[in-house]
Amino acid sequence: MTATVVLAAGDGKRMHSVLPKVLHPVLEQPMLAHVLRAVQTAELERPLVVIGRNGDQVQEAFAGQATFVWQDPPRGTGDALRVALQHLPSEGQVLVISGDTPLWRAETLRDFMAAVPTNGSGLVCTEVTNPTGYGRIVRRDQRFLRVVEEQDASAEQRKLKEVNAGLYLLDSALARKLLDELDTANAQGEVYLTDLLALMAQQAPFVAWTLADATEMAGVNDRRQLAAATTALRQRIINHWLEHSVSVLDPVTTWIGAEVELGQDVVIGPGVRILGKSRIGQGSRIGAGTEIVDAKIGADAQIRQSVIENSEVGDRVTIGPFAHLRPGCVVAADVEIGNFAELKNTRIGSGSKAHHHCYLGDAEIGQRVNIGAGAITVNYDGIAKHQTVIGDGAFVGCNANLIAPLLIGPGAYVAAGSTVTQEVPAQSLAVARERQRNIEGWAKRRFGSHKEE
Ligand code: UD1
Ligand code: CA
Repeated sequence: MTATVVLAAGDGKRMHSVLPKVLHPVLEQPMLAHVLRAVQTAELERPLVVIGRNGDQVQEAFAGQATFVWQDPPRGTGDALRVALQHLPSEGQVLVISGDTPLWRAETLRDFMAAVPTNGSGLVCTEVTNPTGYGRIVRRDQRFLRVVEEQDASAEQRKLKEVNAGLYLLDSALARKLLDELDTANAQGEVYLTDLLALMAQQAPFVAWTLADATEMAGVNDRRQLAAATTALRQRIINHWLEHSVSVLDPVTTWIGAEVELGQDVVIGPGVRILGKSRIGQGSRIGAGTEIVDAKIGADAQIRQSVIENSEVGDRVTIGPFAHLRPGCVVAADVEIGNFAELKNTRIGSGSKAHHHCYLGDAEIGQRVNIGAGAITVNYDGIAKHQTVIGDGAFVGCNANLIAPLLIGPGAYVAAGSTVTQEVPAQSLAVARERQRNIEGWAKRRFGSHKEE
């Protein structure tokens, strides 16, 4: 059985941040989330994550997804491995991956592991045009000899373009035995995991496996690399969808998260961000500037310049422009949500309409209901939130204030401008506003004869 260790205890000094490096987001998800997803997709065992200073933040963010072990203070990648091995079975192999390499694909992890014999060890290497910052692979007669870190490399070695990708499959027993031989006699005064590889290669089968697509191993040590990793992942995901029957009209400005699912013939306009675990059904059109996070959208929906968070939207619904669905909304099929409508924790039944300037919060709205312009569910009394229930076929006039808790029966009408505080029975009309009175001659008396007659 292969164990997995994720190294995430480093100080991340080059980020100059109070946030642990592995929590910095790549495409709106912490770097470490991408690493753990690759591990999980490759169907590996639940990983052991080595954490260091500020590790409690990492532990909190990924509680339940991994087992955590502390390396404090961090004394280098070799020391991190030593700490991890103390918590693993003494036999078998261990896959070691860095928490700061968010672009690995599960297939690559599997291919690499398949290439290493079960009685041996190996590392992933690749040729890059700019090797700066990476450990260089030193070979003799083609055979892997050792890795030399940038800071320890001679001018000649720095010219080597073949680098250590930082992904290893190691024989646990041999690693355990040889770790004690490592020292800190190097430019950084750290225990290098990379020094272990040279020793292992002398004693047992060792594979230096070449990675075809070098972008996968990109490490993030500073914010420039963080931005580059985001761009690379963004492009990879968009290319995937372009090859899978989705139209992305402006790939340069579009963000689609790694866990998003899109149906056939979905069309995505410029500047759209679809993130989290969002799903968009077949044929839906997501217009320019829309942001959808953790939401499920049905088929043939039309969304224009709107924000939808943590909600469910049915088939053929139209939303926007400029609508905001906050968390907890369930919008049934054929609903129309229009300009400047805000919904929160609200269910709205099929065929209902809320076209203009309204706020619907903590509401349960039936089918074929019409919500007039400016209507508001007054859900908050300063202390607690209350629910508004509106029956099928009801009609809420413009600028109505529905003071919750409130029940409006099926087929009932609320007159425009009403402030409704009591239940409205089915089929009845509620008028709750001052009756209009006209005061004759008022303006003339007030302003004199220059006022128009
Ligand atoms: C490391 C490799 C380098 C390789 C590169 C690939 C070493 C010595 N060098 O360099 O050969 O080309 O990765 O990306 O391993 N960490 C700990 N505890 C520590 C130190 C680091 O857990 O004490 C973690 C870090 O959080 C990070 C990973 O190990 O996730 C790698 O450490 P980092 O300092 O980024 O190593 P690099 O300089 O990138
Ligand atoms: Ca690194």
